[in-house]
Amino acid sequence: MKKIGAGIIGLGVGRQHALAFAAHPDCRVAHLCDSDPAQRAWAEKQHPDAKFSTDARDLIGDPAVDVVAVASYDDDHAGQILAALKAGQHVFAEKPLCTRAEDAAAIRAELARHPELRLSSNLILRRYPVFRELQSRLRAGELGEVYALEGDYNYGRLHKLTEGWRGRSADYSVILGGGVHIADLLLWLVGAPAEEVYSLGNAFASRGSAFPGPDYACSLVRFRGGAVGKVSANFGCVHPHFHNVSVYGTRATFTHGPAGTFLHTSRDPAVAPPRLDLHYAGCANGDLIADFIEEILGRGRAEVNAEDVFRCMELCFAMEKSLRSRVPLAVTRL
Ligand SMILES: NC(=O)c1ccc[n+]([C@@H]2O[C@H](COP(=O)([O-])OP(=O)(O)OC[C@H]3O[C@@H](n4cnc5c(N)ncnc54)[C@H](O)[C@@H]3O)[C@@H](O)[C@H]2O)c1
Repeated sequence: MKKIGAGIIGLGVGRQHALAFAAHPDCRVAHLCDSDPAQRAWAEKQHPDAKFSTDARDLIGDPAVDVVAVASYDDDHAGQILAALKAGQHVFAEKPLCTRAEDAAAIRAELARHPELRLSSNLILRRYPVFRELQSRLRAGELGEVYALEGDYNYGRLHKLTEGWRGRSADYSVILGGGVHIADLLLWLVGAPAEEVYSLGNAFASRGSAFPGPDYACSLVRFRGGAVGKVSANFGCVHPHFHNVSVYGTRATFTHGPAGTFLHTSRDPAVAPPRLDLHYAGCANGDLIADFIEEILGRGRAEVNAEDVFRCMELCFAMEKSLRSRVPLAVTRL
């Protein structure tokens, strides 16, 4: 069988994509691209059989590339994804899929014109062992009926906003850049689309820097069926990178915080909740890629499929719009 050829645009986190494609027995890294020519040395050392280019247009449409991983800056994703789909290539996109709802709609329409193509996005929290365990306990009914879910994306890397490309982007969104992970996680856990949101935010932590903010955003979300969610994107926090997650059900409460992971099954303060000895992260940024290749090969289902990506993005666009307009909004379906 001919191996699937992978092309990767952007060799920051994209290096981890390249590793994951190279590790799959039915895949080969065919083409690497980075606009920074200094990345050529890494590319040639790690993937000597792959082409290297500095212009994504050389990779998109390259007949040796069947699947394109888009790991460029957020503002470049939409154009590259659309071009790859038009060229008949599958797409694995870094998050956020794109930065504007119109672009997401255009991507959706282009994908519909190519039913043979697959699209996914690197919404990696679904792979974290602790959240997989939570998901299976939810599905088994251990928590009862879920009525509230809360998640904080504590970024803990303020310098990446005030010094890096994120801060130089005209309207960088902490919701699209970080809250997107929590939005996807809550959608996956609750198993229902979001219908209504209200966001508030501020920019205390980055005050005085070139970053125009907000660097903190907090959104309330109502999911179909009535469960309520809270999603925060806290880029300026004085705290190491961490994802707090609590899920409240009618029978039990799951909490995951810096002090550990617990399943509370009693309201009695004398009853200590059992501590769940779970691995928190323990996965790499390319870990969704193997399943995506299986879906491309028709042998399985990607952990994050195109519908999941659009559900997540429509929620994030509504959260972002509410943050800017300061009014509650209905989520517009993509
Ligand atoms: N899923 C995750 O958890 C996760 C983690 C980190 C980054 N990301 C996403 O990955 C993307 C890249 O972020 P990063 O942290 O790797 O940034 P980075 O600055 O570390 O690396 C980006 C690389 O892409 C190159 N590049 C940028 N635009 C390009 C273009 N149009 N064509 C060719 N090369 C281009 C840059 O030269 C740079 O080498 C962003 O969209 C970011 O949100 C996702």
